Amino acid sequence: MEEIILRTTDLTKKYGSKVVVDSLNLEIKKGEIFGLLGPNGAGKSTTMNMICSITKPTAGKIELLGKDPWKQKKEVIQRIGYIPQELAIHGNLKAWENVELFTSLYGIKGEELRQSVDKSLEYVGLSERRSEFAKNFSGGMKRRLNIACAIGHQPELLIFDEPTVGIDPQSRNFILEKIKESNQNGATVIYTSHYMEEVEAICTRIAIMDNGKMIACGTSQELKQMVADGNEEITLEEVFLTLTGKKLRDYAE
Ligand SMILES: Nc1ncnc2c1ncn2[C@@H]1O[C@H](COP(=O)(O)OP(=O)(O)OP(=O)(O)O)[C@@H](O)[C@H]1O
Ligand SMILES: [Mg+2]
Repeated sequence: MEEIILRTTDLTKKYGSKVVVDSLNLEIKKGEIFGLLGPNGAGKSTTMNMICSITKPTAGKIELLGKDPWKQKKEVIQRIGYIPQELAIHGNLKAWENVELFTSLYGIKGEELRQSVDKSLEYVGLSERRSEFAKNFSGGMKRRLNIACAIGHQPELLIFDEPTVGIDPQSRNFILEKIKESNQNGATVIYTSHYMEEVEAICTRIAIMDNGKMIACGTSQELKQMVADGNEEITLEEVFLTLTGKKLRDYAE
């Protein structure tokens, strides 16, 4: 039987009377690169933050790696790597110090920590720049450092929240390649984005989210079939427009 890595049941978040995540039912299997696609304000980050036990859900259930991340936070956190939308690095620390700080939070020490820092920096292509202060890095390098900080404890689930926004195409391609590589090496991936092309290029299945609700979920082929009766020519952009009446691109910065 396929192993379910994440299952949310009627997951809901309200701020006051505003429902920002509305009865979301997700099921993500081991080995997937699962895409969560939606425009600004759809509720993607709020969903990821609830899954990673940062934002408390108003209602519903989360089963992450077979556990309740709100009740067994410590065990679950050790097994996931969360790369948040907002950069979580310290400008006044050197690249390697940033990675060491975050990796050590997972209880990794001594020689293992040293090796892990080297490996993480190498992984994101920043070995040569390891001794530079993070504040002097370009946007793309900061994003890559952000990733290095979240992978040192070798998580089995990686959660990326819009890791390619506002960066150069080279860094963007590098990050996408690395995500595929991590997946090939055994990690399950959740990838949040409002870029159709990226989601289509790397994801095994895609959930389309709008206004806190899941509009549709399936492979890119299945999503296209839903609206176009198997017309191969249709783009995910058109699928989104048909399902929501909105243009996804209007939201892209
Ligand atoms: N702490 C908060 N208090 C009140 N409203 C909030 C809070 N956090 C998020 N929201 C609202 O919840 C909605 C969903 O926000 P969220 O950040 O989850 O969207 P998103 O899909 O990640 O968007 P983006 O693509 O811009 O990152 C937005 O309308 C946002 O204003
Ligand atoms: Mg977001």
